[in-house]
Formats: sequence, structure tokens, C-alpha cells
Amino acid sequence: MAESDLSLLLLCVFFPIFLLVFIKLIVRPRPVNIPIKSRHVFITGGSRGIGLALARQAAAEGARVTVLARNLEKLEEAKASIRLSTGIDVGIVSADVRDFDAVKKAVESAGPIDVLVCNQGVYASGEIENLEVKEIKGMIDVNLIGSFNVVKAVLPGMKNRIDRKPVSIAFMSSQSGQVDYDLLLAFLVNI
Ligand SMILES: NC(=O)c1ccc[n+]([C@@H]2O[C@H](COP(=O)([O-])OP(=O)(O)OC[C@H]3O[C@@H](n4cnc5c(N)ncnc54)[C@H](OP(=O)(O)O)[C@@H]3O)[C@@H](O)[C@H]2O)c1
Repeated sequence: MAESDLSLLLLCVFFPIFLLVFIKLIVRPRPVNIPIKSRHVFITGGSRGIGLALARQAAAEGARVTVLARNLEKLEEAKASIRLSTGIDVGIVSADVRDFDAVKKAVESAGPIDVLVCNQGVYASGEIENLEVKEIKGMIDVNLIGSFNVVKAVLPGMKNRIDRKPVSIAFMSSQSGQVDYDLLLAFLVNI
């Protein structure tokens, strides 16, 4: 009896640990630290908000930074503000992420990219049933298709790097997407 209790106890203690270690080993992609000093960081939607803050931080950490957005005037302002706070000049490129050809041109003009941050985004707030279809399409075009366009334009250059240093692509997301997704799921389950 005591032996079976001990086996049960060992099973309860060690099996979850074994499971966690196993999951950690098989889960991909694994988080890696990409040193950004002297590397090219390309940030979409970098003319204001979170993207601008990321651009400033990356520049301060010694990266070569390029920011992409549509409004050239705002890009110039962003560049000036980063120069003021860090003394560093970042590159700016103007393109609409919905336009693949324009994005490709901007990416080519910026040069080989090591770290891509797809940060551009628009958000129409409200319940799905109260949003106009064109507002929903607008978000999908900029946030989703726009990110595909940027990745499609950047990826060939990343894959052809000969220095074999790690490269990285990050996507800025929002919890609202998850909340809306949960609501949608709850709705679908209930019908
Ligand atoms: N702020 C928040 O509380 C929050 C919360 C959750 C998630 N997020 C996400 O974080 C990211 C940044 O948010 P934020 O609040 O910092 O955004 P933001 O201040 O509104 O800035 C958006 C940036 O994206 C650019 N952009 C918009 N449409 C574009 C297009 N079609 N093509 C190219 N660039 C475009 C804008 O420049 P132009 O207009 O000149 O193109 C601007 O640089 C977004 O993806 C957003 O969904 C933000």
C-alpha cells in the first residue's frame, strides 16, 4: 500500500515536470535574443506612437533604423525628434503597406534588413455588428494584408543573407483581436 502511495506521489510530482520540460523542448519558435547593435531594424508605422518609441530605443541601442509610414511630413518630424533625443539619424521611407509595389520599392531602397517590426495598424473600435463593412475591411487591409506585403517584400533579402547572423520578424498585435475573437467564438458556439 505504502509503495503504491509513493509511486502515485512520484507520478504526480514528476510527470508534470517531465511534461513541462518535454513541451519546452518541442515548442517552436524558440525565443531568441537578437542583438541589434549595428544591425538594420526596419519598423513599419514608425512615425508616431509605439513604432516611434521602438525606433528611438533601437537607435539609442546602436541599430541602424529605418521607419516606414505614409505621411512624409510626420516621418520627417519623427526623424527630427529621434535626432534630438539620441543624436542619431534614422532612415525614413514613405509607402502605404496596402500597396505591395510601393512597399517593395521602399524596402529595396532601405537595404538589407536584419530585424523587421510590423507595427503599422489601424483600429476601428466597436462591436462587430456596429462596424461598417468598409471599416472591417480597412483594418484587415492595413493590419493583415499590409503585414503580408511587408513580410513578402523583406523575406527574400533576409533569406539571402550570407553573414548567417540571426534575423527576426516581429508583429505588433492587440488584445482587442483576442477579445473580439473570444466573443465571436462564444457567439458561434451559442447559435
Ligand atoms: N496604442 C495602443 O493602445 C495599442 C494597443 C494595442 C495594440 N496596438 C497596436 O500597436 C501598433 C501601433 O499602435 P499605435 O497606437 O502606436 O499606432 P498609431 O500611433 O496610430 O500609429 C500608427 C502608425 O502606422 C502608420 N500607418 C497607418 N496606416 C498605414 C498604412 N496603410 N501604411 C503604412 N503605415 C501606416 C501610421 O503612419 P501614417 O498614418 O502616416 O501612415 C503610424 O506611423 C498598431 O499595430 C496597433 O494596432 C496599439
